[in-house]
Amino acid sequence: MDKFVIEGGGRLSGETEIQSAKNAVLPLLAASVLTDERVEIHKCPRIADVMNMVGILGELGCKTHFEGDTMCIDSADAANHEIPAALAKELRSSVFMLGSVVSRFGRARIAYPGGCDIGLRPIDLHLGGLRRLGVDVAEDGGYIDCSCGRLRGAEVLLDFPSVGATENIILASAKAEGTTVIRNAAKEPEIVDLQNFINRMGGKISGAGTAVIVVEGVKKLHGAAYTPIADRIEAGTFLIACAMCGGEIALKHADPVNIASLLHKLREISCKIWSKNDKIYIESKRRLSPKIVETSPYPGFPTDLQAQMTALACVCEGATVIVENLFETRFKHVPELIRMGADITVRGRSALVRGVPRLHGADVFASDLRGGAALTLAAISAEGLSSVTDLSYIDRGYSSFEYKLRALGARIRRVRV
Ligand code: UD1
Repeated sequence: MDKFVIEGGGRLSGETEIQSAKNAVLPLLAASVLTDERVEIHKCPRIADVMNMVGILGELGCKTHFEGDTMCIDSADAANHEIPAALAKELRSSVFMLGSVVSRFGRARIAYPGGCDIGLRPIDLHLGGLRRLGVDVAEDGGYIDCSCGRLRGAEVLLDFPSVGATENIILASAKAEGTTVIRNAAKEPEIVDLQNFINRMGGKISGAGTAVIVVEGVKKLHGAAYTPIADRIEAGTFLIACAMCGGEIALKHADPVNIASLLHKLREISCKIWSKNDKIYIESKRRLSPKIVETSPYPGFPTDLQAQMTALACVCEGATVIVENLFETRFKHVPELIRMGADITVRGRSALVRGVPRLHGADVFASDLRGGAALTLAAISAEGLSSVTDLSYIDRGYSSFEYKLRALGARIRRVRV
């Protein structure tokens, strides 16, 4: 087990490069099973979730290797349709495999997915969508068993615009017979990326980024090379770090449009933000309270930046109400922030954060990916020495997190416990 040891208090300055989006790369890896030709994903981040997904591809019989930072996948010999619990429990995105594995083999058997413990995280919308496409779904002893003849296009109406369910239905329908229409689809940029990738493979998908996605099934998909979009959550995390610590930083390979909701909030609290070419710049001097931050599906404020924003609100002038609308138990970072001197009251899905001039160092414990990032930012901005344990959560989603923060002036190092 690793931990960060952090001496907080300094300002940030300098430039760092944003990785490709974790939440774009994971469904692209799942999509690679839809063809038996070679797929190349450029700028593929070496984060634990990606490596676990690559492990699942290996279990299916795909050959994978890195060439520099390009992940190469050859699914020609893939023959296995089963993903055991030991692999599926490592990440929630294993569930995306249902759509692509059932499309490839006509059947799939996958253990219930794991992932960060941030709420109930049911998969009823995924399974309901697959059933609409003609898949027989049986749930038995912690496994989901899917089987079908040729998948048939269908109308699928989602009760909620679930990101994962939208992606799973796209994956299952890309080679189905006929047309699939997904209504009330999620609009996240990562879904547009999945559409663009499958279209590069010869697919016929349109409408991603809106609430109605149309997938015209094609007989065959071929190999493709693709560079995924930048990670808006990683970019947002660094912007919030600078807002908390003060200073001026630049983020290379970052897209301001995809994090417009965050940029709006940061400008409200008086950060200066501008972008040029593929860089976002932020200058932070004074932090007024953002007053209210409410998470919602894209283009609303992302739940994956809620924990980091809560940490920022701790050191803003005035009170902030944070409302978490997506996940039930996504305030596990709060007791840890309180150990650092934060003043926060949680009632159900809302947190009232009363700003204090400064947090102080403490030994804190991460219990999920974004919560771990939030505690790291809090420690960097706090006065004195902190440690953040256990880094296995942070390593799921941030590549070289401490190196990048150190390059921006933070005093942070990784220590084996
Ligand atoms: C994805 C992201 C995750 C992000 C989340 C919301 C990936 C790999 N992960 O997760 O980082 O926090 O979107 O932006 O892209 N729900 C159901 N039934 C379902 C599916 C979802 O009730 O079948 C509910 C969930 O419990 C949750 C809400 O819908 O309350 C949103 O979940 P969803 O959009 O599916 O998130 P994920 O795809 O799991």
